[in-house]
Amino acid sequence: MKKLALIGCGGIGAYHLEHFLQFHDIELAGFCDLILERAENFVKQAGSGKAYTDFMTMYDEIAPDMVFICIPPTCHGRIEFETIRRGIPFFVEKPLALDMDLAKELVRQVEEKGLIAASGFQCRYDNINDAAAEFVEKNRILHVAASRVGGIPDAPWWNVKSTSGGQLVEQTIHQMDMLRYLLKTEPDTVYSVASRGYITQEENPGYFTDDLSTTLITFKNGITCTMMTGCYSLDGASWDSKMTFGSRSARMDYYLCTKTTMYGIDEQDKAAQVAGTIAGDGTQRKNDNEVGITVESQVDFGLVCDRTFVDAVLTGDPSKIRSPYADAYKSVAFTMACNESMKTGLPVKVVY
Ligand SMILES: NC(=O)c1ccc[n+]([C@@H]2O[C@H](COP(=O)([O-])OP(=O)(O)OC[C@H]3O[C@@H](n4cnc5c(N)ncnc54)[C@H](O)[C@@H]3O)[C@@H](O)[C@H]2O)c1
Repeated sequence: MKKLALIGCGGIGAYHLEHFLQFHDIELAGFCDLILERAENFVKQAGSGKAYTDFMTMYDEIAPDMVFICIPPTCHGRIEFETIRRGIPFFVEKPLALDMDLAKELVRQVEEKGLIAASGFQCRYDNINDAAAEFVEKNRILHVAASRVGGIPDAPWWNVKSTSGGQLVEQTIHQMDMLRYLLKTEPDTVYSVASRGYITQEENPGYFTDDLSTTLITFKNGITCTMMTGCYSLDGASWDSKMTFGSRSARMDYYLCTKTTMYGIDEQDKAAQVAGTIAGDGTQRKNDNEVGITVESQVDFGLVCDRTFVDAVLTGDPSKIRSPYADAYKSVAFTMACNESMKTGLPVKVVY
């Protein structure tokens, strides 16, 4: 049986472990964390493998056939270089790295070696994307209005922008990635402004990052997008990860990893519309009939994501991986360009 190893037995590591426990054709051979008891706890849950605090020792002892790298954003580099040098296929959590020169060099080495390498953009594996992609293909999109507002995750490195990348890079990257994936075009220019100071030191000691940001994106094919996102909300004030794709005759409300609802794609729908929207003649509509066609998320997309990577390693065929390492790098570069714009106060060209 092929051997799987995991580095970083924290929050997202546990998410992947849940999936591995459902795979019975691979050996869960090693778990590594700087904190030994975390690795030991994973061994206990897996019912197999050995715990390590040093990934090199783990590699030497068990010679894994694949590895999941689930470490914080600033801890990347040495682990990936060694993994590539040894030719071990790897799955790495977003955002890959916060240093774009480092990420670019890692992409180069992965490609040079022809190594199977994937990233944790699991939203790409949701079944709602088939309907969403068809909608985008059939309806010429003019604009996307997107948002995501929630609270602060409980990870020690998250509170500081230099160690997390900031809320947009660390969280909203999933939506930025889905924009690229669904629109099938690349961002051209971003202009981002960020605000902070609403979340105080008294409330959240050690917090040093933006509370929210607003970004204007132009894509290479002319589509424009606005993205409003933040981590300022207390319970009850958060709102959906929603992206409204607008075309001239139809629109789609896409709720990340939840559902997608398309309006105006059949005749009945065009006549009905939803309450509160503006009609084609510019008047406010009052009809509140349930309209639109909704496709709900029905798959465990995280499980599918992990299984797709494992299958790619077992068969040697990476073609079904929806987020290869080199492509994931582009989504990271996209969000890091937003950070650069927040810092300089100027529009920034997205360069890969
Ligand atoms: N795909 C997703 O939806 C998703 C969700 C949550 C987190 N993430 C990403 O996963 C990454 C980790 O996040 P998390 O919430 O699991 O963080 P975490 O702090 O809960 O866990 C990270 C673990 O890595 C360990 N670690 C750090 N450096 C190490 C090293 N050199 N060797 C071995 N272990 C090491 C830490 O001790 C810690 O236990 C982040 O980049 C985050 O953005 C992705």
